[in-house]
Amino acid sequence: MRNLISITDLSVQESEDLIKTAYRIIEDPAHFAHVCDGKKLATLFFEPSTRTRLSFEAAMYELGGHVLSVAGAASSSASKGESVADTAKVVSCYADIIAMRHPKEGAPQVAALNASIPVINAGDGGHNHPTQTLADLLTIHREKGRLNDLTIGLCGDLKFGRTVHSLIQAMSRYTGVRFVLISPEELMLPGYVKHDVLEKYDIPYEETTDLEGAMPKLDILYMTRVQRERFFNEEDYLRLKDSYILTPKKLKNAKPDMKILHPLPRVNEISVAIDDDPRACYFKQVLNGKYMRMALILKLLEVEA
Ligand code: NCD
Repeated sequence: MRNLISITDLSVQESEDLIKTAYRIIEDPAHFAHVCDGKKLATLFFEPSTRTRLSFEAAMYELGGHVLSVAGAASSSASKGESVADTAKVVSCYADIIAMRHPKEGAPQVAALNASIPVINAGDGGHNHPTQTLADLLTIHREKGRLNDLTIGLCGDLKFGRTVHSLIQAMSRYTGVRFVLISPEELMLPGYVKHDVLEKYDIPYEETTDLEGAMPKLDILYMTRVQRERFFNEEDYLRLKDSYILTPKKLKNAKPDMKILHPLPRVNEISVAIDDDPRACYFKQVLNGKYMRMALILKLLEVEA
């Protein structure tokens, strides 16, 4: 039985197979409308979410399946002190697959060790978010036609931004990829990604605080929200929250075919004036996330379609 806890649980070939399945779904959604009839997805979200939970649920409905949902720790037995391990064992009796979001790093891994059904990590603390990366990979593939030979700028909260960590792990497996890491000093990429991925595999990268200076070389600009909920004090958050605000003026020196991604939710990082720019891809990214989650559910449930 397979789980998706980290994006590297999938080989490069497997993630490309998911992209192929997503293209097939986009072309002919009717073909997939009943392939999961009778199957149940449990979404266990112990942290706020709009997109990811609804995206998983929409994905399962569009495959003909059903959804069981826990939204918020307060409404579940976690508030009575139930362990993640026990919750996973219990939910295994009701559902065929679990998508779990949890504020504690590693919680979905604990769930996977205890569940008898596949577990998908839908975001664990400031650690990983592999299904957002699947959405990002399909978006980059659809927009640029390739996943290699790209200069990718990641901007904002690179310390706590779990989508950034998973995206770097995934894109580091392609040739000709280089990263420009743009953040305030306090929110730089953590060592376990910098040393254990970028340096270990000799991936070219630079670190800077200067978004406009980096702009001309970027093929992809991945903006992120400063992760307020991970800060130890509000003062630091308030000081750092508006470090980067992308405006039309700052895009002046960007390549005409640079693509702008953001996992959303956006707070202030991208001016709404950019939403109509043809380079803005963040709402397309949302839709791509649903297709990739459909492809992932099929794979983990071993449904041939
Ligand atoms: C991200 C997350 O939850 O990490 N959101 C999402 O799932 N699309 C990014 C964020 O919350 O900033």
